[in-house]
Amino acid sequence: RPQSFNGIDDIVIVGGGLAGLFCALKLSPRPVTILAAAPIGHGASSAWAQGGIAAAMSPGDTFEKHVADTLAAGAGIVDEKMTRMMVAEGPARIHDLLEYGVPFDRDLEGKLLLSREAAHSERRIVRVKGDMAGKAIMEALIAAVRRTPSIRVIEGYVVEELVREGRFISGVIARPDAGQSKKRVAFPARAVVLCSGGIGHLYAVTTNPWEACGQGLGMAARAGAIIADPEFVQFHPTAINIGKDPAPLATEALRGDGAQLLNAAGHRFMLDIHPDGELAPRDIVSRGVFAEVQAGRGAFLDCTKAVGKHFPEMFPTVYASCMAAGIDPVTQAIPVVPAVHYHMGGVLTDAEGRTSIDGLWAAGEVTSTGVHGANRLASNSLLEAVVFAARIAENIKGTLPTPQLTEWGDNAGENDDPVTVEDSPQLKILRQVMSDCVGVIRTRESLVKAIREIAQLERDNTRMRFTNIITTAKLIAVGALRRTESRGGHFRADCPQEQPEWRRRTYLTLADANRL
Ligand code: SIN
Repeated sequence: RPQSFNGIDDIVIVGGGLAGLFCALKLSPRPVTILAAAPIGHGASSAWAQGGIAAAMSPGDTFEKHVADTLAAGAGIVDEKMTRMMVAEGPARIHDLLEYGVPFDRDLEGKLLLSREAAHSERRIVRVKGDMAGKAIMEALIAAVRRTPSIRVIEGYVVEELVREGRFISGVIARPDAGQSKKRVAFPARAVVLCSGGIGHLYAVTTNPWEACGQGLGMAARAGAIIADPEFVQFHPTAINIGKDPAPLATEALRGDGAQLLNAAGHRFMLDIHPDGELAPRDIVSRGVFAEVQAGRGAFLDCTKAVGKHFPEMFPTVYASCMAAGIDPVTQAIPVVPAVHYHMGGVLTDAEGRTSIDGLWAAGEVTSTGVHGANRLASNSLLEAVVFAARIAENIKGTLPTPQLTEWGDNAGENDDPVTVEDSPQLKILRQVMSDCVGVIRTRESLVKAIREIAQLERDNTRMRFTNIITTAKLIAVGALRRTESRGGHFRADCPQEQPEWRRRTYLTLADANRL
């Protein structure tokens, strides 16, 4: 019989990134358990976010402009109602973060300093020390969580399964990570909030930490949740190309400040592709960079004129990454490559963060709320995480479902899993397949090949964690095969135009994907 910590938890939050911590704080003083694979703040993409949070807060900016930019970037399939709600609530959530102690940059008069990023018509990115927003936000929230007695944090536990009893999710099953006991542990709960992050590590080149390998999406799909728009994967155009895994990011704010993309011959290739050049929507810049790299001409971000000697104080994180690789960005252009950065698709949620299964809410990158459409606008991700995490807290407080608490059986029994998934040869194969066949450019042929190879990995697999990961990979590949057009982050070389009949979101269950 599995051990249980202390009977039944009221609310279990899966994941210790921005959405999870913010939701826990908003739920306080209600008791909450946060289960995190790594020490909170360490395994979360949020802590690595450089740009900041988008919010219409400058005198020249308006709510309507922020909505319009989000709709335009999302390539025709953004959910406008959800976007309006997110943008409207953004400034209030920034004030919450200020109250939790986030030291957003201010000018001499004390007004918030705002950066500009691609496809934003205004400067509207609230930031910290140039490129340290994610780290500073997470530090402030971790401190707030640690001093909140109603929040119990359990680190080093990888959640592997959502327990479904009829129509309800009634808890989770987790496993202590490698090196500790292999016993799986049941956490019965009255509500589960999935905040498990993204999918970057399904791909060979990513800016995400290894924890972002799609486990949450996979386990939700296995429990029967509806997944929306899984085919939309966002590649960041300017990951630093120094062979590191994960690839360090060169924030888009550099291009916002005038940095230029050049190939090895010094040609500013983005001007050939889009009138906004380096500040075109992210999917377009990524394909531009990808084409140069594929053609052997290389791609470089030249910040020497736009930022120059101010680089170390303006962008300390990027500066440190470059210097560690022997590149001085004050005088040298930075080699760049597109890298998987964000998943627009995910577990379908409504305005209150409810999934299609009772008892399961979700927030952050694991979700698909509809606000990103086919291509997320820069710095809308942290905004989405805090807005929907707060809405979930309100919804749970008002409508916690009747407990469905039954005896826990042997389904959480022991299961040998001696290799951590991030080291496994199977994951290396999967990452390469996803990059080669479900990457920046896809074709019917490449997607069919990917689905076959994923099926083979699935047949050979015996481990629960990898099952979740493979499930997510399968949903992305099947979604990409189904969408016979190109839109936003999904580009099919065999059908390169947008098609009016595909101007809509797509919904997929694991049962649908398995029927293909
Ligand atoms: C960046 O700083 O370039 C990333 C911002 C984002 O992904 O929203």
